[in-house]
Amino acid sequence: MYDFIKKQDKELFRALEAEEKRQAEGIELIPSENIVSKAVREAMGSCLTNKYSEGYPHARYYGGNEIIDEVEDLARERAKKLFKVPHANVQPYSGSPANFAVYLATCEPGDTIMGQLLTAGGHLTHGWKANATSLFYKAVQYGVKPDGYLDLKEIARLAKKNKPKLIWVGATAYVREFPFKELAKIADSVGAYLAADIAHIAGLVIAGAHKSPVPYAHIVTTTTHKTLRGPRGGMIMVTRKGLAKDPELAAKVDRAIFPYLQGGPHNHTTAGIAVALHEASTPKFRAYGERVVKNAKALAAELMRRKIELVSNGTDNHMMLVKCGAGRGAILEIALDTIGLTTNKNTVPHEPSSPFYPSGIRIGTPSVTTRNMKEREMKLIGGWIAEVTKITKDEELPKEKSERKAYLASFKKRAHADKQLKKLRKQVLTLCKKFPIPDSFV
Ligand SMILES: Cc1ncc(COP(=O)(O)O)c(C=O)c1O
Repeated sequence: MYDFIKKQDKELFRALEAEEKRQAEGIELIPSENIVSKAVREAMGSCLTNKYSEGYPHARYYGGNEIIDEVEDLARERAKKLFKVPHANVQPYSGSPANFAVYLATCEPGDTIMGQLLTAGGHLTHGWKANATSLFYKAVQYGVKPDGYLDLKEIARLAKKNKPKLIWVGATAYVREFPFKELAKIADSVGAYLAADIAHIAGLVIAGAHKSPVPYAHIVTTTTHKTLRGPRGGMIMVTRKGLAKDPELAAKVDRAIFPYLQGGPHNHTTAGIAVALHEASTPKFRAYGERVVKNAKALAAELMRRKIELVSNGTDNHMMLVKCGAGRGAILEIALDTIGLTTNKNTVPHEPSSPFYPSGIRIGTPSVTTRNMKEREMKLIGGWIAEVTKITKDEELPKEKSERKAYLASFKKRAHADKQLKKLRKQVLTLCKKFPIPDSFV
């Protein structure tokens, strides 16, 4: 692999080889990550990256696009068929621009919007104060109840009071099934657009392992690289309900992507999305989606059996949130990384610390399921997480903010030298060797 890079760029070649090794010899537990097939990688490395094609199929601003049109049509038609929607745009460069395009298609600058609070699991682009969306739109944020479920009564109250033009449903760290029907009722009662951001759960929706937002939302956005197991990219879909509310909505969404927000589409990514959507249309993908959820439930059960506290005491989807004590998320992330388990520190609902030094870690099963791991391996992984928690139980983030960076750097060094962690690292490596990264899923 990487033969040409090897010949002409030794530095980059070494980095690529090191990353290949890291991925093969570690267990990826970040819920927003996955492993793509070799077919998706071929598409991403194809000649389509050479082509400019501003516009949409059969209406381009550049010549020579007949074949690009075929590729984009293929991706669009596959998306429409799989999600059962009348319109799909596959050009967003990623999930964040897809979401920004939804604002452009449905709102005027200064309009009120509603979305889930970042510290309660929502995404930056749903109106978080440090995101551009809160600069251009008046963002009202909603949260979750102490039990981890969305606070529907509060959402209804806020909607009635603020009369938003757009309401988001969807999140980046939410472990329960999204109540699309209930959110639609709230949005309809105030005449708002309902946009479902299914970036995390798109693959589960296709597999039938999570209910679909399509009958309830006007617009659906997604990334293509999480549970959908495609290249890094985004899509926007308009539903029949959306077209009934505004027959121009599909045209507005297309205009919002090009020419409002983006220039030429990334055609190699479009081809990768077409490959991933084809893979997602097979019975094997249905089994994959179901297995992702089964594995998450098995891992959550093992963690709880080992007295690890989880937000909402479990999961309905592919992820869980471990509560690890005020400000201890980074400590656990570093310690787990030391043994080869990759996770990410994350806020927990009603976060007692801060988004920089949060009190939880986020764990998910899309990637380990792609590697064909099942309940037995989830028990092993749960056991390792519990062991690491025990080994690091006396570590505490300094109260003094200025001391925290240095403390974490020194903890990282100590973790790498720790004998107990070294022993666990060997066990993780043995498991990785038994479950090599697969090449193909069809
Ligand atoms: C719910 C949700 N929406 C949107 C995004 C943004 O996607 P991207 O990182 O591709 O811009 C993410 C990414 O984590 C997400 O979780």
